[in-house]
Amino acid sequence: MKAMVCPKYGSPDVLQLQEVEKPTPKDDELLVEIHAASANALDWHTMRGEPFMSRLMGTGLLAPKNKILGADIAGRVESVGRNVTRFQPGDAVFGDTYWCGFGGFAQYVSVPEYALAPKPANLTFEEAASAPQGMITALHSLRDQGQLQPGQKVLINGAAGTVGTFSVQVARWLNGEVTAVCGTRNVDMVRALGADHVIDYSQEDFTQNGERYDLIVDNAASRSLSEYQRALAPGGSYVMVGYTFSLLLQVLLLGSWRAKRNDVSIGLLNPTENRKDLDEVRAILESGAVVPVIDKQYPLSRLPDAIRYLEEGHARGKVVITVAHNGAA
Ligand SMILES: NC(=O)c1ccc[n+]([C@@H]2O[C@H](COP(=O)([O-])OP(=O)(O)OC[C@H]3O[C@@H](n4cnc5c(N)ncnc54)[C@H](OP(=O)(O)O)[C@@H]3O)[C@@H](O)[C@H]2O)c1
Repeated sequence: MKAMVCPKYGSPDVLQLQEVEKPTPKDDELLVEIHAASANALDWHTMRGEPFMSRLMGTGLLAPKNKILGADIAGRVESVGRNVTRFQPGDAVFGDTYWCGFGGFAQYVSVPEYALAPKPANLTFEEAASAPQGMITALHSLRDQGQLQPGQKVLINGAAGTVGTFSVQVARWLNGEVTAVCGTRNVDMVRALGADHVIDYSQEDFTQNGERYDLIVDNAASRSLSEYQRALAPGGSYVMVGYTFSLLLQVLLLGSWRAKRNDVSIGLLNPTENRKDLDEVRAILESGAVVPVIDKQYPLSRLPDAIRYLEEGHARGKVVITVAHNGAA
């Protein structure tokens, strides 16, 4: 099969389209013929081996342990191992392979059934592949860690990108009063996604306008911890999703002290595996409450261009990788 292989850490130039052996599913796995995948920050962080700490935490010290990246996938089950109970060949599925070693930037991947759910019936393969990581991140940051309650004021910093377009819609689905922060060209798009208020960060500083929020979900990591804290209402929460090294240090070293002193909560989003999430993501997508926003589509052979675009940090929704099975890639 064709796969985009990442043999060593580096820029998108290290990625190589190669012919590799098609995987064989183990007893508890399914072989999925991938029709579409989507790219996330996770992919380019892993491709670059950054932050360095992640190498010590398991991505591989000198070279990536998982040579085929790509977490978000959608496709059709080609075959199933003998212990698989929920799926059969021909089923349309989507899923998140991050917890089982990536593998999405290829024509086929072999994964345990917990990594998959039936594809939302109302979505194309491209739309379905765009959802898992972004939707799960939005659910974990807003509902699970942020504990957003109906009517509460929530601010989403970095509202127009891969995660942000889901954050805005999930916050609306949770009945929060949503303020979205993005750049000028994305103001209309973010409003159309359901934001009650939109702040163009090039025109207005949300940490200086006197408003206070019950929850700040920070996909952009563009301000200092003291600035975020100033924009929190008493008892409010700050959840850091995106990061810079400097902000990470501030949160780790000063977060609990500042939180106690100012009666707020400050924390990093801890990505946790929850096998029920995908089924919930599917139900929300099928209800129409959240609609994936696709910015650009690239064939698998142009994955390096897709990653370069994502690394610029201004994607408008998701970057999707289409995977052909007719000899081309
Ligand atoms: N992708 C995932 O599933 C995932 C999961 C967990 C954590 N994360 C982390 O979350 C972060 C964001 O990821 P992403 O995939 O959403 O990135 P992205 O697609 O590159 O989006 C970044 C967003 O930040 C906005 N932005 C840039 N400068 C800003 C500023 N000064 N103020 C406010 N917003 C600003 C951009 O909006 P404009 O284009 O309008 O400037 C853009 O919408 C990354 O650090 C990533 O590691 C991602």
